[in-house]
Amino acid sequence: MSSHDIPLYGFLRFLVVEEFKANHPLLNLKAVASSFRRDKISSAFYPDQPVCAMFCPMLVLCEKDIHQLVNFAELIETLKHAHIQFSTGKAVMPVRLVVPLPEINGRITSMPAYLSDDKALGMKVVTFFPENPKRNLPIILATINLYSSETGKLLAVMDGTYITAIRTASTSAMATNALANPETPVLGVLGAGVQARAHIQALSKVRRISQIQVYDLFANAAQELKQEMGPQVGVRIEVVGSAEEAVRGADLLVTVTTAKDPIINSDWLKPGVHINAIGSHRPDLREIDPQTLKRATVYVDSREAIMAECGDILLAIREGAITEGHIAGEIGEVLAGKKAGRTRADEVTLYKAVGIAIQDVATARLVYDKAVQQRVGTNVEI
Ligand SMILES: NC(=O)c1ccc[n+]([C@@H]2O[C@H](COP(=O)([O-])OP(=O)(O)OC[C@H]3O[C@@H](n4cnc5c(N)ncnc54)[C@H](O)[C@@H]3O)[C@@H](O)[C@H]2O)c1
Repeated sequence: MSSHDIPLYGFLRFLVVEEFKANHPLLNLKAVASSFRRDKISSAFYPDQPVCAMFCPMLVLCEKDIHQLVNFAELIETLKHAHIQFSTGKAVMPVRLVVPLPEINGRITSMPAYLSDDKALGMKVVTFFPENPKRNLPIILATINLYSSETGKLLAVMDGTYITAIRTASTSAMATNALANPETPVLGVLGAGVQARAHIQALSKVRRISQIQVYDLFANAAQELKQEMGPQVGVRIEVVGSAEEAVRGADLLVTVTTAKDPIINSDWLKPGVHINAIGSHRPDLREIDPQTLKRATVYVDSREAIMAECGDILLAIREGAITEGHIAGEIGEVLAGKKAGRTRADEVTLYKAVGIAIQDVATARLVYDKAVQQRVGTNVEI
């Protein structure tokens, strides 16, 4: 660099520092400079590079990084604020766009959202390729992009599969906190997959649970869950032989299966039970029988998404068991104090979630801020 370049260099450097400060408010700029050198991108400080590309590398976060960054307690709190924003008009979120791709036997789904208080702008992209197990890959893969809400610049790309598991379970824990009776010693779990595990962890953070009764179509899946989760949460887990045994006597119930038809029956429910119904998220799938929906006070994650995607509700409406007016409200309305929530100890409450983008984007923002603070992840220039 020649001496007459120096004022320009200084000016560009100033621009860069300001832009970096705007996008990375928690970042220590000295640390940034040294991390640039570590990552061999110190050329970023030379003026012959475009300013944006130079000084705002994108952060890449894998599942292991995310694991070490977030815990359920803070995620539950973050999601509570996200749902309040969503249900009080402080979020922008369309219903997810699902693009079927029959030619390649796959599907791609985009889930963008913006949360105005959190300044969180992002999008989850989910692919569904049913032949993937033959290639040793999961059928469903997810990635989340987080953008600067000031410039639209890509700030981070992170694994979305683990975030989907923890944000779903944490949202159920948040709904449980708002709707369930204070004492819920017996937890019934239908399904023994990824979501069952995450739910057992998250629900243990908001309620004292002394017994868990698990049912899965495949007894070995339930046994594996028992071996894995029992020591982790320090609660007795009983593997039961039918859905009825898992439901009877439960104070708290979670349905996290891939069932196509209802798996619970209203007659089995204990008065006062709170149900987190998580599995069905397509108009043709359902886990909950129409009589349970009719008996319960029903809250949802997003009214609009539920009316577009949720077989549990849409099929019960079509069969005449309930009307749309039976949905008492969004969980964000209860959390914002706009709707009452549970009014009696013997009331059956049900939280139905199809999973919405604000949950992913709020989680991604939390993960990103913590990653920057703790200098976790890999900086990549694109
Ligand atoms: N609402 C949301 O936000 C959200 C988010 C993620 C996943 N999900 C849904 O939650 C469900 C569970 O997800 P997962 O990742 O744990 O899946 P998974 O495949 O890991 O586990 C599903 C389990 O359900 C069991 N099962 C299927 N039919 C059953 C039946 N009739 N009775 C008892 N058990 C049965 C399977 O054997 C399996 O062990 C899926 O339907 C998924 O699409 C919802």
